Amino acid sequence: MKTVKVRLGEKSYHILIGYPLDAVGKMLKKYTKGIKSLIVTNPTIAGYYLETVKGSLQQSGFQVFVAQVPDGEEHKSQAEASRLYAKCVEYRLERQSIIVGLGGGVIGDLAGYVAATFMRGLPIVQVPTTLLAQVDSSVGGKVAVNLPEGKNLVGSFYQPFLVYIDLAVLKTLPVEEREVGMAEVIKYGIILDKKFFEYLEKKMGKLRELDMGVLERVVGRSCELKAGVVEKDEKEKGLRSILNFGHTLGHALEALTDYKKYKHGEAVAIGMVGACRIAEKMGMLKKEARDRIEHLIEKAGLPVRIGAQLSVDSIVQVLSLDKKVRAGKVRFVLPEKIGRVIVRNDVSEDVVRDVVTGLTE
Ligand SMILES: NC(=O)c1ccc[n+]([C@@H]2O[C@H](COP(=O)([O-])OP(=O)(O)OC[C@H]3O[C@@H](n4cnc5c(N)ncnc54)[C@H](O)[C@@H]3O)[C@@H](O)[C@H]2O)c1
Ligand SMILES: [Zn+2]
Repeated sequence: MKTVKVRLGEKSYHILIGYPLDAVGKMLKKYTKGIKSLIVTNPTIAGYYLETVKGSLQQSGFQVFVAQVPDGEEHKSQAEASRLYAKCVEYRLERQSIIVGLGGGVIGDLAGYVAATFMRGLPIVQVPTTLLAQVDSSVGGKVAVNLPEGKNLVGSFYQPFLVYIDLAVLKTLPVEEREVGMAEVIKYGIILDKKFFEYLEKKMGKLRELDMGVLERVVGRSCELKAGVVEKDEKEKGLRSILNFGHTLGHALEALTDYKKYKHGEAVAIGMVGACRIAEKMGMLKKEARDRIEHLIEKAGLPVRIGAQLSVDSIVQVLSLDKKVRAGKVRFVLPEKIGRVIVRNDVSEDVVRDVVTGLTE
């Protein structure tokens, strides 16, 4: 078991890692005086874990209500948020009542958004059940819903008051969903921590087998690294943008294929390879480091080539519309070595074109 503290003054909170789901009520009791709770989840996750979480909360004296949202990214919507507000009213939730987000990033973002806005803010406990949610989306307080016009267009920064992670829930997570989180884990090593990167090189096999000891260290370190960035730049005014490493090209690939061809982690994996190749071409990153990074990505079961029928032109064009464009320049997070990145907006279109061409071959 491990605890990571996110230090944000009055908004500080703990991330509890490696705790069993059936003890969530007991732990929560230590953190709140609230009695009423609303669990937000979906039927897939509910099938595995709802009774355990509900039972644990009830045993610790909480009054428990449940609201289920259909499974899928398309339900991270204002329509579902409205339905959840109606539940909050129906169950007469008050300012001290607790919302429990039990699920992956979709549930976490949606439940967090509702918690941030209902009565101007109820406390939210995140109980993340995907690797991506455990190492990324549950930490840092970004909450959002999608609009038909684009993903995450409406949202806020709203920190949880507790993140409670049971690693054993990953056993029921489909393998391809685990890989989504794996890309973010590798990302943390590349951008911030060479030792962690080396640990991943050694332990990738065990990690993919869900060795609980390795998993605890990996999830723990990932949370620490993300927390460190969020503490310095909660609202993404500067440093936090390094977390977008691999996401510039990754988002372009996702958008061009209507979010159907790639899992987010696959697109980010290709995006990280692209960023490394750009850095190498610009003389910033040694070939040896780039090879090591690509090798680790492959070892994680993630792609290192675009592998879709996309024209180089279309990719370059979408890149220049990316929201990370500042003053007409595409911003790339580029590694200088394993464990250190910088943000650059002076990458020439020729270099991008060359690299994208190389990745489509
Ligand atoms: N807030 C942030 O900082 C942040 C960061 C990254 C991503 N996100 C958001 O996260 C979302 C993606 O999250 P995700 O990758 O967790 O996907 P997800 O929430 O859709 O979960 C993936 C699938 O796994 C199922 N599932 C979840 N836990 C399970 C378990 N333990 N066993 C079996 N099945 C399980 C879900 O029902 C779903 O079908 C996106 O909407 C993205 O925008 C937010
Ligand atoms: Zn991501």
